[in-house]
This record gives sequence, C-alpha cells and structure tokens, in this order.
Amino acid sequence: MLSYQHGFHAGNAADVHKHSMLCSLLDYLTGKDKPLTYVETHAGRGLYDLTAAEARKTGEFKQGIHLFGKNFAKDHPYLQGLKKTEERYGTSFYPGSPMLALLSLRPNDHIHLAEMHPREFRALEANFSNPSVNLYHQDGWLLVDSVIPPTPRRGLIFIDPSYEIKTEYKEIPVKLGLVHRKWNVGVVVLWYPILNDGLHLKMLNNLQKRFPKGFRHEINFSSSTKHRQIGGSGLFVINPPYGIQTIGREVTQALQS
Ligand SMILES: C[S@@+](CC[C@H](N)C(=O)[O-])C[C@H]1O[C@@H](n2cnc3c(N)ncnc32)[C@H](O)[C@@H]1O
Repeated sequence: MLSYQHGFHAGNAADVHKHSMLCSLLDYLTGKDKPLTYVETHAGRGLYDLTAAEARKTGEFKQGIHLFGKNFAKDHPYLQGLKKTEERYGTSFYPGSPMLALLSLRPNDHIHLAEMHPREFRALEANFSNPSVNLYHQDGWLLVDSVIPPTPRRGLIFIDPSYEIKTEYKEIPVKLGLVHRKWNVGVVVLWYPILNDGLHLKMLNNLQKRFPKGFRHEINFSSSTKHRQIGGSGLFVINPPYGIQTIGREVTQALQS
C-alpha cells in the first residue's frame, strides 16, 4: 500500500517549481482558441489546507510558496491560480496541480484525473464536484491506456509520481515512450526529484536518449530549502511548446532570487 501523502509537502519548493511551470504551459496552450485535453496520472487531492496538521508538521511550505511566491510577477499564471484559490476557499488554502489546471482551463476543455490512494481519491472527489472533470480511482498508468490518444487531441499530460517504488525510475522512460507513440502531438510533462544519491540520473539519461528534443528544467535547492534526500526539482517535457525557454527562465529567476 502506498503511504505518500502530498498534504505533508504541499506548497514546498518542488511544488512551486512544478506548479509555476505547469500554469505557464497551460496559459500558453489556452492562448489558442481550440479546445484541449488535460490528463493527470498522479493527481493527489487537488487542494491543501496549509494550517492542517500534516502541513504544519513539516512546515515545508515556509521554504516554498511563503519564500518564493513574492518573486513572481503579479500577473504570472501561477499567482493568478493562487489568487483564485484563496478567493474561493480562503487564504490558508494551496492548490494542487489539478486545481491549478481547472482554474487555467476553459469550459470546453476536457480534464481526466487519476488517483490511486483511497483517502486521497475521496478528498479529490469532494474537491472536484464539477461534472466536467473526469475522476478515476485507479492506477494513473492505466488511465494512459484508456484515454490516450484523447479527444480533443491537443493537450498536455502531467505525470507527477511519488517515486515510492524504486523501479519507477527504470520503468518511466518506457512508459513515456508508449504515451508518446499513442499521442505524438501531446505535451508530456514529467516531474522528478533531484536526488542526492543520483538515483534519478539513469532515468534522465534514458529519457534524453529516447527524446533528444525533450526540454529539461531543473532547480537546485539551497541548503535551507532541501528536504531530506531531495536536493532539487526537475521537469522533463516532451513536445515542448514554443516559448518554453522563456517560461523556464522566469521560473528559474523566481526560485533562485
Ligand atoms: C506527488 S503526489 C501528486 C501531487 C499533485 N500532482 C500536485 O502537484 O498537486 C503523487 C500522488 O500519486 C498517488 N499515486 C501514487 N502512485 C499512483 C499510481 N500508480 N496511480 C495513481 N496515483 C498514484 C499518490 O497517492 C499521491 O497522491
């Protein structure tokens, strides 16, 4: 049984990195009039109360959103998502990636979210009563089999595993190969931790060999923002949209200033 619960880590520096990049990518994709599909394989609960016992126990958000939020421009799509969340739920709430996606997308876009943990899935259901969002209590990799290639075909899949099972590092490049073969126009965004023991490096080499045009964006945490064995946060993007260099530069500046 999986034990990872994102509530302990919500709003930490890795969240700021992945969520700010994701919001900018969705902002870019919604700049065109055509509808799109958003798929997320490892959704979590979608909304986190930073005054809850889990968040207070680790206090990771203090070295994340509380530290770096002010470094983003007011009109940055990530800050817009945070603002809408606070207006809707209260100032102590922090949005997970599914909530940020919902807030970024338009009524005619399609959303598919998978979460395997029973308690996290129940919370996800409670937070997403919106009937236009499709929720799946199942292994996110099976969602890939059932909804990909999606309709509409334009879109993005966000893959944010908890890496509790160490074989994931070996399996992910193969799985992304399948995703890309089935959906060659989809933007694929994978999050990975930068591990002090270098366990992620083999996976990255493998990804870069398979997808030489993939875009890699990494933030190395300073010693004050390091959490346990994680020394930083990385994203690997297949089919990166035009403009991703600028998106990445803005996020680097916010997280390293
Ligand atoms: C890092 S958290 C996701 C956080 C979320 N993407 C966000 O940024 O707000 C990973 C989640 O994946 C779930 N999970 C782990 N393995 C899974 C699998 N094979 N399929 C679906 N969900 C899984 C965990 O229960 C956990 O809630």
